[in-house]
Amino acid sequence: MRVLVTGATGMIGRGVVAALAARGDEVVALSRDPERARALLGAGVEAHAWPEPQLTPPPQPPLERSDALVHLLGEPVAQRWSPEAKRRIRDSRILSTRQLVAALRAAGDRAPGVLVSQSATGWYGPAGDEQLEETAPAGSDFLAGVVADWEREARAAESTTRVVCTRTGVVLSPGGGALAKMLPFFRLGIGGPVAGGRQYVPWIHLDDVIAALIHCVDDARADGPVNVTAPNPVTNAQLSRALGRALGRPAVLPVPALAIRLLYGEMATIVTTGQRAVPARLRELGFAFRHPDIEPALRDVLGRA
Ligand SMILES: NC(=O)c1ccc[n+]([C@@H]2O[C@H](COP(=O)([O-])OP(=O)(O)OC[C@H]3O[C@@H](n4cnc5c(N)ncnc54)[C@H](OP(=O)(O)O)[C@@H]3O)[C@@H](O)[C@H]2O)c1
Repeated sequence: MRVLVTGATGMIGRGVVAALAARGDEVVALSRDPERARALLGAGVEAHAWPEPQLTPPPQPPLERSDALVHLLGEPVAQRWSPEAKRRIRDSRILSTRQLVAALRAAGDRAPGVLVSQSATGWYGPAGDEQLEETAPAGSDFLAGVVADWEREARAAESTTRVVCTRTGVVLSPGGGALAKMLPFFRLGIGGPVAGGRQYVPWIHLDDVIAALIHCVDDARADGPVNVTAPNPVTNAQLSRALGRALGRPAVLPVPALAIRLLYGEMATIVTTGQRAVPARLRELGFAFRHPDIEPALRDVLGRA
């Protein structure tokens, strides 16, 4: 199979590209900087330029020669949300997806058979301890608005191709993401539950994200929203305790919501609130998680860091 990947140079993208290549798929990357993409991804990956994804269409020939499209690109969310950063977070996702879908529709019956368009559990907004399956409604905060519009743009391709919106949770990875931000504090023994610690963290191991995205490419039954989260979500306090045990460090120092808000501004809502998202669709599709439980998942990630 030939798979076109946007955001291929990112934390998730690099893993998806490696897994596809390992099973013998041809991988084509679209990047703002194809030289860098080639250097990062290796000579086996064909890289094409898409310099301004929010303003211009993707190159049509690689799109039309692909069987599947995995769309991962997006401005990092974990930064201070200045008005300009918020615009980049929104536009990089919504406008690039609009450009991509217009190109898919223009390709007609030469369009790839599936679009797996990245999404996020941010769809649900802060939702306390309610169990959230894919039928739960969208929230109303900034991120929920971005994610709802992002999915709406992707689903406009449904008349042309199969569309899956992979609502991914907090990815635990040895190479960056949320864990990299927490680790220095926990290693020093000054980590602990944030903002009371009762909020749920929709965590998932990077290996399972990669496998779930590829499962959604392969399985013709996958369509619409799919929660990409571990089957056993935990609260922020449970995550802190598990991380402390995995590191052999105390993890009891509470971090007040105010401190996090001073540090990160409005972006702090990502850690001071959360979602108890559950992978109902992945279970229906028979997806087998390699890392269903938090402590062994953390030990595995830390072992590779
Ligand atoms: N990591 C998580 O915990 C998590 C959780 C839920 C959802 N997600 C979503 O999954 C996607 C991939 O996540 P990731 O962690 O792999 O992201 P990442 O490491 O930040 O990589 C994203 C890629 O998108 C491209 N990009 C970055 N800023 C851009 C901009 N302003 N305009 C256009 N392209 C831009 C870059 O590729 P080039 O430089 O090659 O163009 C980059 O390598 C993102 O949409 C993210 O929001 C991630």
